Amino acid sequence: MRKLAPFAALILLAGCGQGAEEPAADTPETAAPVEAPMEDAAVEAPADDAAAPVEAAATAAVAAAPAAFAQCKVCHAVEAGKNGVGPSLAAVFGAKAGHVETYTYSPAMKNSGLTWDEATLNSYLEGPMAKVPGTKMAFAGIKDAAKRQEVIDYLKTL
Ligand code: HEC
Repeated sequence: MRKLAPFAALILLAGCGQGAEEPAADTPETAAPVEAPMEDAAVEAPADDAAAPVEAAATAAVAAAPAAFAQCKVCHAVEAGKNGVGPSLAAVFGAKAGHVETYTYSPAMKNSGLTWDEATLNSYLEGPMAKVPGTKMAFAGIKDAAKRQEVIDYLKTL
């Protein structure tokens, strides 16, 4: 997608600056088991505000999977009954956590008592391990609120 172009420049800058120059600020993501694709890292670094217009353009297309969902697909299928590393995300919106009978959840998820609505998905996708301590979803989270919303809107359609 063409919105990657400006970010590509950022990534290059970040890459070159690593050794010598000042900051790559704090990057807590680096400790995470599964790294978000570069696109996300770039946005999370310095560009939150600068990225806003691009975001607005991207939100226009909602029906198709948003770019941020690519990282979910590594572990999740959207077809019902098809589990991967994680459970199928078909019909997950509005469902109780741990509802896929053919999938073996962590006890933490199974017993979380959560129902997946806007609020619970928003906080879970921001920081899975913080929302459900002990979850086996090894994913750092999506720190960008607009991207989280895109993913949540997409989950509603499944
Ligand atoms: C590294 C693999 C991995 C990635 C990447 C990943 N997940 Fe998961 N996900 C899991 C696993 C494993 C579980 C089951 C967690 C448990 O049982 O504790 C899970 C559980 C979930 C659940 C709860 C499902 C239910 O049936 O209760 C949701 C919702 C979810 N993931 C959404 C997402 C979204 C959206 C993304 C992308 C932003 C994502 N996941 C990225 C592995 C992953």
